[in-house]
Amino acid sequence: MHGRWRVGLALAMALAVAACGREQTSGAGATGPIRVGHFASLTGDTATFGRSTDNGIRMKIEEVNARGGVLGRPLELVTEDDRSITEEARTTAQKLVQRDEVVALLGEVASSRSLAAAPEAQRARIPMISPASTNPRVTQVGDYVFRACFIDPFQGAVMAKFARETIGAKRVAILFDFKQDYSVGLADFFRKTFQSMGGEIVADERYTSGDIEFRAQLTKIRGTRPDAIFVPGYYTEAGLIAKQARELGITVPLLGGDGWDSTRTLEIGGSAVEGDFFSNHYAADSDSALVREFVEKYRAKYGEVPDAMAVLGYDAAGILVDALARAGTTDGPKLRDAIAATKDYPGVSGTISMDPQRNARKDAVVIEIKDGGFHYKQTVPAF
Ligand code: PHE
Repeated sequence: MHGRWRVGLALAMALAVAACGREQTSGAGATGPIRVGHFASLTGDTATFGRSTDNGIRMKIEEVNARGGVLGRPLELVTEDDRSITEEARTTAQKLVQRDEVVALLGEVASSRSLAAAPEAQRARIPMISPASTNPRVTQVGDYVFRACFIDPFQGAVMAKFARETIGAKRVAILFDFKQDYSVGLADFFRKTFQSMGGEIVADERYTSGDIEFRAQLTKIRGTRPDAIFVPGYYTEAGLIAKQARELGITVPLLGGDGWDSTRTLEIGGSAVEGDFFSNHYAADSDSALVREFVEKYRAKYGEVPDAMAVLGYDAAGILVDALARAGTTDGPKLRDAIAATKDYPGVSGTISMDPQRNARKDAVVIEIKDGGFHYKQTVPAF
């Protein structure tokens, strides 16, 4: 139970009387639904992130409930929209913890928003699992904070090696989002690995989330004659950057990270993103049986192909359910310990074990944008 709401016995009894007629959802002997909180960007700049994770989480929860729930109780998902705003991630997480008394938090996708919310989970001693935030600092907030995905030192190295070895780039320009911890971090990790491999960073330009004009930075970049441009941002800006780059006569490939994973990248970027590549957590056209089955089920339910966030939402919820069953309780500290002990959980995005830093070590894939779609290019094993 949440610290601030931990109440003495007398008060607890008074509350129980007051709540008479309502199902008891927390505390020993509770029989009502187990409430799980999800804070997500359902609207705003990165709305596809939140909608996809919510779809994935909901699908997992419905499956679990159809099997009779967990600990003999159904799961109830409470989702709050943070509108893609960093500060709102914190207030929505707080609401879920205090008002809804959720047993765990799932969220966020964007690292800056996970970083803003994580102290709320930590303070309340309620586990938080970020499905998709890859900045290393997210789980460093405290021992109640976990993630279901790999981290950016790995992802940055994956794309640096891809740039250097697969496309043979020697000179790369970087254009990153100065306002997102994810983008700043990924640019940094890419830069380090690329230079350590003998590559040269010929330009290091920045923008701010929400910008729509990138021609000044791109003109400078064009002047440095790069072999490729690394753009570790989110899809809205990445799509626009690709368009403006092509308009300026830049023809070299743009390289991105998981933040590119949205059908909006294709809609915004159009033909400008053809021939570009980005790293990701999964490929929808992978031949793994687990992926194929998931893609089919998801498509039947939501009428679209799941992106990485949908898969990671599904897996994050799966990790939580698995831990609830092993913990045998919804008690925060015990549930935390059970999540920390996750070993070889068979996620759709890969097999998940929590390392001592509460991160998942997983393979990455590189996606190629071709013929107006995302296509699996190669797998890079975890290192
Ligand atoms: N990894 C990104 C971040 O940390 C979020 C993201 C994950 C975006 C997966 C798209 C797909 O901010």
